[in-house]
Amino acid sequence: MVDPTVMRQIQAELLDYKGTGMSIMEMSHRSALFEAVVNDAKDNLRQLMDIPEHYEILFLQGGASLQFSMIPMNLMFKHQRAAYLNSGVWSQKAIDEAKRHGEVIIVGDNANMMHKSLPLCDVLPDSLDYAYYVTNNTIYGTQFKQIPMEHAVLVADMSSDILSKPIDVSKHALIFAGAQKNLGIAGVTIVIIRKDLIREDVGVDTMLRYATHQKANSLYNTPASFSLYVLKKVTDWLLETGLETITKRNEFKAGLLYETIDKSTLFSNDIKAEDRSLMNVVFTTNDAKLDETFINFAKSYDCVNIKGYRSVGGMRASLYNAMPVEGVKKLIEAMNAFEAEVKA
Ligand SMILES: Cc1ncc(COP(=O)(O)O)c(C=O)c1O
Repeated sequence: MVDPTVMRQIQAELLDYKGTGMSIMEMSHRSALFEAVVNDAKDNLRQLMDIPEHYEILFLQGGASLQFSMIPMNLMFKHQRAAYLNSGVWSQKAIDEAKRHGEVIIVGDNANMMHKSLPLCDVLPDSLDYAYYVTNNTIYGTQFKQIPMEHAVLVADMSSDILSKPIDVSKHALIFAGAQKNLGIAGVTIVIIRKDLIREDVGVDTMLRYATHQKANSLYNTPASFSLYVLKKVTDWLLETGLETITKRNEFKAGLLYETIDKSTLFSNDIKAEDRSLMNVVFTTNDAKLDETFINFAKSYDCVNIKGYRSVGGMRASLYNAMPVEGVKKLIEAMNAFEAEVKA
């Protein structure tokens, strides 16, 4: 979701951006006005996440998924070896790509428990180019509450919980996230990378080198300009709202929903309590047909897009930053009404 106040601002500016008589959609990405959008989005992120000056902020394309390749291509430089914590589908996809570029050591994996809890991290081996983990597992509904490992070059995929709460950037060397969950719409991927890791001489193609995008202020080629503009607007909204308020609201929303699930005799969530995600709450009636009936029933309460990921089934409520408390309350109303009907 995108907050309605942000959408209304976008709507108001859509036909005429800052008195130019042009829409932001029609503007050259080389114009001063557009470059200001990029710089403002960067400044906003730096402020919101307290990003130190020795980190670069890049806006790239290719989705978060392209980072599964760009990371090993750019960072597997000295040892051709990296450690990965496997906590679900998205880390597995990253592992598959990294294996094309060097040795991958799995330092924790809960696949045999269907990823219903988070893996513990083994002692990291020496001579690693980096260590990699995913902060929030969008599909399984698990989320690390603490950074699970320490390494000088720690890489984190924060696609589904970036800016949902404060994090310590300085404990990481590279953080990346697609914008489309907590920071706007699809088309732009945020990469926050320690400057000393950006190298020109990594021997990969121009578009795939972080150095190319650093030198060009993320404008080497035509960017996804509208997505960047939305990112700027959403980060303005986050600054106005305050990360503390956002964090508290996210805790409150997830708390309400987990409480309802735990009290219910119809719905359940079997994720280990301390590993439960505040962003993606998975639940089920343990009956695929009844889950389907509930998903349709919930539509009459304006609750849509709650079908679980195809490999997991059941329901998944994504409570990203822009989901209001009222949205969660509506879902709870639907769950209670459905449960009463089923039990009648
Ligand atoms: C944690 C995580 N990483 C990576 C991705 C892939 O993102 P994209 O579709 O932008 O490539 C997703 C998508 O949902 C995700 O949840």
